[in-house]
Amino acid sequence: MSRLTSPKVVNIEDLRRLAKRRLPKVIFDYIDGGADGEITMRENCRAFYDISFRPRNAVSLANCDLSTRTLGLGLSLPVLLAPLGYSRLMHRRGELAAAAAAGRAGIGYILSTFSGHKLEDVKATSAGPVWFQLYMVGGRETAETAIERARTAGYSALVITIDTAVAGMRERDFRNGVKALLGGSLLAKVPYLPNIAAHPVWLASFLMDGGLPTLHNIVIPGKGTLPVMDVDTALASATVTWNDFTWIRQVWSGPIVVKGVLTGDDARRAVDEGAAAVVVSNHGGRQLDCVPASVRALPEVVGAVNGQIDVLMDGGIRRGSDIVKALCLGARAVLIGRAYAYGLAAAGEAGVTRALEILRDDLERTLRLLGCESVSELNRSFVSEAYSRLSSQPRNFQMVE
Ligand code: GLV
Repeated sequence: MSRLTSPKVVNIEDLRRLAKRRLPKVIFDYIDGGADGEITMRENCRAFYDISFRPRNAVSLANCDLSTRTLGLGLSLPVLLAPLGYSRLMHRRGELAAAAAAGRAGIGYILSTFSGHKLEDVKATSAGPVWFQLYMVGGRETAETAIERARTAGYSALVITIDTAVAGMRERDFRNGVKALLGGSLLAKVPYLPNIAAHPVWLASFLMDGGLPTLHNIVIPGKGTLPVMDVDTALASATVTWNDFTWIRQVWSGPIVVKGVLTGDDARRAVDEGAAAVVVSNHGGRQLDCVPASVRALPEVVGAVNGQIDVLMDGGIRRGSDIVKALCLGARAVLIGRAYAYGLAAAGEAGVTRALEILRDDLERTLRLLGCESVSELNRSFVSEAYSRLSSQPRNFQMVE
């Protein structure tokens, strides 16, 4: 019996447990942690509990259609793998493993700028749609080189993250000595080394992979590629503003996806700037803490966009029923981050595949129990009225039920 199959791994939390065991604390906490008090991070998951289903019972379905389309692309499930920085530190095949698993499952993969593998290699490994997420590290000239490479390699959309004016305060990263481990003197690293040594399977794989990876997709003119840097430093130089969009549209003629939208105003601005889709996202609770859970912000954005472009969402998805709830509230598809990162860290490509299998089975079971034969038929009538009233006030965390 594989250590990834049932009953050892029944849900995403089981993969989280395996990831925690395999990874040094500094890497596990980078995945698992959020900003400040982690209020938004927890709320992303918890908010799904407030949404109740209204099933149509005594219905038996011969088939159940889980597929959807976004930006003209077919997905076998309404799921894409979210851009995940530093995946090569979680597993040495990192982005390659995740993109390959996504392609085999017939879903999309979004490659982060902070990738340890070359974007061309990542594209080549996936049979499905692959999008490129751009951080403006190194300025416009550097970004233009990456965009050109992404176009040549066949990336079908450019994802622009707008919620990183500076990095959020990831307290766990500070306590775990990320800065010292990535840049400090040997002496500064010493306190953090015993925990790393206590995870020999990860350590052996990391050393055989050559140690800290290079960020192959950030090529600074005249200087070359950047080494891995802490997220604080990386995001400080990665800010995108609305003023950049005119330039982005000049250098990228394909679809643009704006990620990090939490209000109707920003959603309308994204439409005006020519976005083909928005992602309702709070960056997994890793940036500004105490913003609403994504699923709470979703209805306001869906209302503001009014069908003009697709609305995607991420944040807190751990079960197929969470995906169903997001679709009922108007999302076309969801992005999953931690839900697959745990699988990647636990077992590489097989772990990502297992995470997707769990979510796929959950999704189909939930649809059948709801009496709904297709994800395209999900709507607000399948979730509780009380939540729908509450959700029109996304900043209100109080429950009315
Ligand atoms: C990078 O984008 C991160 O959130 O760590």
